[in-house]
Amino acid sequence: MTSSVMEDVVIVGGGPAGLSVLAALKNSPKTRHLKCTLVEASDLTNVRDFYDNPGENYTNRVVSVTPKSVEFMKSRIGNWDYMKEDRVKFYDRIVAYDSQDNDNARIDFDAGSTESGVLAAMIENINIQSSLLKKIEEINDTEGTTVLDKTKVEDIISPIQQSLEDHDLNEIDPNAGNADLDWPIVKLSNGDIIQTRLLIGADGYNSPVRKFARIESRGWQYNRFGVVGTLKMEYEDYRSVGWQRFLTTGPLAILPLTEDNATMVWSSTPKLSEILLKTNKEIFPHLVNAATVLDEADLNYIYKLLDYNPDDMAVIDEIKWRLEKFDQQNLEENYPLKVVEVLDGSRARFPLKLSHADTYIAPRIALIGDAAHTIHPLAGQGLNMGQSDVAALMTALESGIDRGMDIGSTLVLDSYVANSWPSNHMLLGICDKLHKVFATDYYPVVALRGLGLKSLNVLESFKDIMVKIISAR
Ligand SMILES: Cc1cc2nc3c(=O)[nH]c(=O)nc-3n(C[C@H](O)[C@H](O)[C@H](O)COP(=O)(O)OP(=O)(O)OC[C@H]3O[C@@H](n4cnc5c(N)ncnc54)[C@H](O)[C@@H]3O)c2cc1C
Ligand SMILES: *[C@@H]1O[C@H](CO)[C@@H](O)[C@H](O)[C@H]1NC(C)=O
Ligand SMILES: *[C@@H]1O[C@H](CO)[C@@H](O)[C@H](O)[C@H]1NC(C)=O
Ligand SMILES: *[C@@H]1O[C@H](CO)[C@@H](O)[C@H](O)[C@H]1NC(C)=O
Repeated sequence: MTSSVMEDVVIVGGGPAGLSVLAALKNSPKTRHLKCTLVEASDLTNVRDFYDNPGENYTNRVVSVTPKSVEFMKSRIGNWDYMKEDRVKFYDRIVAYDSQDNDNARIDFDAGSTESGVLAAMIENINIQSSLLKKIEEINDTEGTTVLDKTKVEDIISPIQQSLEDHDLNEIDPNAGNADLDWPIVKLSNGDIIQTRLLIGADGYNSPVRKFARIESRGWQYNRFGVVGTLKMEYEDYRSVGWQRFLTTGPLAILPLTEDNATMVWSSTPKLSEILLKTNKEIFPHLVNAATVLDEADLNYIYKLLDYNPDDMAVIDEIKWRLEKFDQQNLEENYPLKVVEVLDGSRARFPLKLSHADTYIAPRIALIGDAAHTIHPLAGQGLNMGQSDVAALMTALESGIDRGMDIGSTLVLDSYVANSWPSNHMLLGICDKLHKVFATDYYPVVALRGLGLKSLNVLESFKDIMVKIISAR
C-alpha cells in the first residue's frame, strides 16, 4: 500500500471558512498541538500579497460582517490585528424600501443610539482571507501547520476501500497498514496521500468532502444572479447607510465603503444580469441611480433599450428626465447618493442558491461554511454563518480535548451540529421567505405586501428581523 502521512486535521478549502478554522485551531491553547494541513485548489498568491500591497482600489467581493463575527476574529481567531483597518467600513444605519411604494413602504434603522452604535462592517473578502493567512504564518508553527495552495483534493476514500483496492492490485498485502483505522484517506494532486483523524470540509457549495461523507444537501437555485461592482459616489456620504431597494427582480443593495467608495450587490434575473454586465460603463452609473428610484415599469423600458443596444447613450437622457420629476430634496435626504462611476472590470455575477446539508457531521468529518449551507445574500449572512460554524466547532473540539476524547468521534462532533444547525436553518428560512415575498409581481402578494409594509406592526417586525439578522444581536 502507498505510504501516507498521518495528520490530526485536514482542512479542504482555503476560503474564509477554511482559513478561519485553521487560524482558530492554532490560536487556541487547547488545540494548537494538533498537526493540521489545509489544502486549497486555487493560487493564494494574491491573498498573500494583499498584506504588503493591498492595491489602490477596492476589490469587488465585499461582505457585510456582523459585530459578533468581528468580535470572534478579534478575541478567538486573532486575525483582526492583521486586517487592513483603513479598508474596513463600519456602518450604523440601514434603509430598506419596497419598489412598489418608495416613500412609505420603508424601514429606517439607526444603530447610532444602541450600545455598540454599529450595525455591521463592510470588509473585502481578500482582506479577511489575507489577515487569516498572515495570522497562520505569524504563529510560525511550521512543524504542525501546512498550507498547500495550487493543490487539489482529487479523491477521498475510506481505509476499507483502500485495502480492497490494494488487495485487488497486489493479491495480498501483509503490510495493509492502517486498514484497521477508520481515518479517511485524502489523495492530493501533488501525489501526497494524507490519512487524517478529522477531515474538515470547508470546500464550498460543491463540497467533495460532503459527497464523500454521503451527506444529503437540499435546496434550490433561485434563478437569480448577484451582480457585484465597485462604485464611486458623487461625494463621501457621512450618513454611513446601507441601502436596499426591493425590486421584483431581486433586491439592489448599495453599501458604503470608506470615503466616496461603495459596493453593490444587485440581485437580478439571468436576463437582467446580462444587461447589467454588458451596459456601457458610462451609462451604468445612471442605470444604478435609476434603479434606486424609478417605477419598475420605467426600469423595464430602460432595460429593454439597453438590451437592444448597451452603448445607447440616449438612455442617459431617458433616465435623467425621469429622475428630474421627483422632489430633489427628498431624493437627497432619503435615497442613496448618486453613483458617478463603476470601476473598470469590477462587475461580475454569481448564481444565487439556497442549500442546507441534512447534518454537518459524519464519523471523522465536519462540514463548515458554504459546504454546509448557502444563503441568499439579501441579509449578508453567508460568511457570518461560516464564522459561527467555526465558533461552534471550536467549542466542541476544545471540550472533547478537555475530556480526553478523540476529536474525530461523533461524540465530540455531535455538539457542533446541535449548536449550529437549528439557528442556521431558521436564518435560511427567513431569508428565503424575504426573497420570495418581494420577488414577485403577482398582484395579491404585492397588494398584501403594500398593506403589510404600511401597517406599523408588520413594518416593525420586518424591521426587527432585518436589524436582528444584519447585526446578529
Ligand atoms: C453576491 C454575493 C454577496 C455576498 N455577500 C455576503 C455578505 O454581505 N455577508 C456575508 O456574510 N456573506 C456574503 N456572501 C456569502 C459569502 O461570500 C460566502 O458565504 C463565503 O465566501 C463562503 O466561504 P467558504 O470559505 O465557506 O467557501 P468558499 O469561499 O467557496 O471556499 C471554498 C474553497 O474550497 C476550495 N475547494 C473546493 N474544492 C476543492 C478541492 N477538491 N480541493 C481543494 N480545494 C477545494 C475552493 O477553491 C474554494 O477556495 C455573499 C455571496 C455572494 C455570492
Ligand atoms: C483604480 O481606479 C481608477 C478609476 O477610479 C482607475 O483609473 C485606476 O486605473 C484603477 N487602478 C488600478 C490599479 O486598477
Ligand atoms: C476610496 O476613495 C478615495 C477618494 O476617492 C481614495 O483616495 C481611496 O484610496 C479609496 N480607497 C480605496 C481602498 O480604494
Ligand atoms: C519563525 O520561524 C523561523 C524559521 O524557523 C525563525 O527563523 C523565526 O525566528 C521565527 N519567528 C518567530 C517570530 O518566532
